Amino acid sequence: MSNKIHRLDDNLVNRICAGEVVERPSSALKEILENSVDANATQINIELQAGGTKQIKVTDNGSGIEADDLSLAIERHATSKLVNEDDLYAIKTLGFRGEGLASISSVSWFNLSSKPLEQDAGYTISNIFGDIKPIKPISMRNGTIVEVNDLYNNIPARKKFLKTESTEFQHCKSVVERIAVSNSQIAVNLKHNDKDIYQLATTDLLHRIGDLFGQDYLDRYFEINEELTTGYKLSGYVYHPAYLKNNKNVQMFFVNGRFVRDKVLQNAIKQGFSGVLHHEHSPNYVLFLTINYDEVDVNVHPSKHEVRFRDSSAVHSFVSRSIRKAVGQDFSTANSAQSTNVFEPTSQSSQVFNNINYSTNYDDNIVSAWLAKPIVQHAPTPSLFNSFIDNQAQEESTYPLLGYAIAQLQGIYILSQSKDGMIVVDMHAAHERVILEKLKQQFQNDAITSQQLLLPMVVSVTAQEMEAFNIYKEQVSNLGLSIDIISDTQLVVRSIPMLLDDNKISELVKDTLRELAKYGNTNVLENHVEEVFSTMACHCAVRANHQLTIAEMNALLRDMEQTERANYCNHGRPTWFKLTIADLDKMFMRGQ
Ligand SMILES: Nc1ncnc2c1ncn2[C@@H]1O[C@H](COP(=O)(O)OP(=O)(O)OP(=O)(O)O)[C@@H](O)[C@H]1O
Ligand SMILES: [Mg+2]
Repeated sequence: MSNKIHRLDDNLVNRICAGEVVERPSSALKEILENSVDANATQINIELQAGGTKQIKVTDNGSGIEADDLSLAIERHATSKLVNEDDLYAIKTLGFRGEGLASISSVSWFNLSSKPLEQDAGYTISNIFGDIKPIKPISMRNGTIVEVNDLYNNIPARKKFLKTESTEFQHCKSVVERIAVSNSQIAVNLKHNDKDIYQLATTDLLHRIGDLFGQDYLDRYFEINEELTTGYKLSGYVYHPAYLKNNKNVQMFFVNGRFVRDKVLQNAIKQGFSGVLHHEHSPNYVLFLTINYDEVDVNVHPSKHEVRFRDSSAVHSFVSRSIRKAVGQDFSTANSAQSTNVFEPTSQSSQVFNNINYSTNYDDNIVSAWLAKPIVQHAPTPSLFNSFIDNQAQEESTYPLLGYAIAQLQGIYILSQSKDGMIVVDMHAAHERVILEKLKQQFQNDAITSQQLLLPMVVSVTAQEMEAFNIYKEQVSNLGLSIDIISDTQLVVRSIPMLLDDNKISELVKDTLRELAKYGNTNVLENHVEEVFSTMACHCAVRANHQLTIAEMNALLRDMEQTERANYCNHGRPTWFKLTIADLDKMFMRGQ
């Protein structure tokens, strides 16, 4: 009989698994905090020493663990959260694998103490690097205290991978922030080396975000609250980095309350921001996606940071559309604080102003080339500012959002007087956005018009791209692309959406198929068309030193108020800013 194969002893199994679950102090902390959340705690105190490498101590006031269960709690595959297989496909708690405490306690000097409300005394159990001690009574309040000392002291090879104390602390701090953001109903205190870091009282989501990341996050947000009949729900806040003075790079996405890192979601957010974000900037967001439990699998990796969606394409398009809608709101409907703090409520004057004409630079090749395309009848007319204006009605009560123009500064900026201060507008940037949005709208109104290629074009594709084509045939044709298969490795493109650059067809078709395969959704073509429009808009927009009359400047301001995304130029930079009289008084120290 062979005896080469044998079962590993429990301690060794625990240590092997600890490698996955407990990557560093912050991952141990995450497991412990998730247990407190699952136990319905309303108060959690966290004390760390040396970035969590020396000690992690978490005290909660949750439901607690009965004395008889204490030793099971630190055993592998022992959990109170999962009973049968059906539960596995409808996980409502953060934990379910029954391995968090087993893993942590096998690689640390570990104490677990607990007192459920119904139990007269508390009890404590210790696991000293795998050596489990008998249970003892202990005097404590209702709840649970978990102590992790000297993590990885019994595995020096592993301990070497830990970074400096301050790096490990930063990781722990991020974990606390995620738990705090997703549970604003829980009061959270964090101490590091006996110093208070956070003392967070129970509050709502927005104020919890503000308490953690600063006043900017209370002032400059876009709120999201979208729901579909399919049960998808997206809520939370997104932030445009151009409007954050103190950008903390907050990027948190929660699926059914669980923090996740997911490429599909990240791409969806990026798409939601496309056209309003400078390419070097990243959006800030705290978003909660709620979705039926059976539509998402959280049992992908022991750290539970990854998820799989049953229909990732539907999730992608829901998330990107919701964000696009929120950040694209025009001035009058924006529900961000920007509209309340920076902009004033609107009161449109009714007289229609129609007769502004001034020449723009139309001589550029790219514009003439575009004008020669079949949609010429939709080309922007030189009179681009066809909006409302009423120069007489300049009384306080009728001030529009962006006020009334007073002067042109240095041939670049428009200076305008608003109800409570002054506004400076970057004339070219603002005009560029107004034109871009008009072009896009006209293009959309025409739906996606296809143009037949004179010579059909053969595109060689990889096996994955061919598979994507077969799966997403319908989406591809909805994009205005007419494509057929001619061999296992070749597609033939017969018609393409209007305005697509003929030289880029092969590249765009391949990019489209690759994105479809990855995310089930794509805006490759849309982005390309937007790029073309963006170039045109830039060429058509008023240039520096182009003298504008007061009426023309006012017309641009009114057009901005009517335009989606007018807060940002086509490259994601802000188009205007405001100084209130209060700001000016402060600068001149008036009344101090
Ligand atoms: N702070 C706590 N309050 C109350 N019960 C707790 C607490 N921490 C742990 N427990 C109990 O101990 C059990 C084991 O915890 P452990 O973290 O090891 O596994 P789990 O949370 O069930 O699953 P996972 O490994 O996915 O986290 C839990 O199922 C729970 O019953
Ligand atoms: Mg757990």
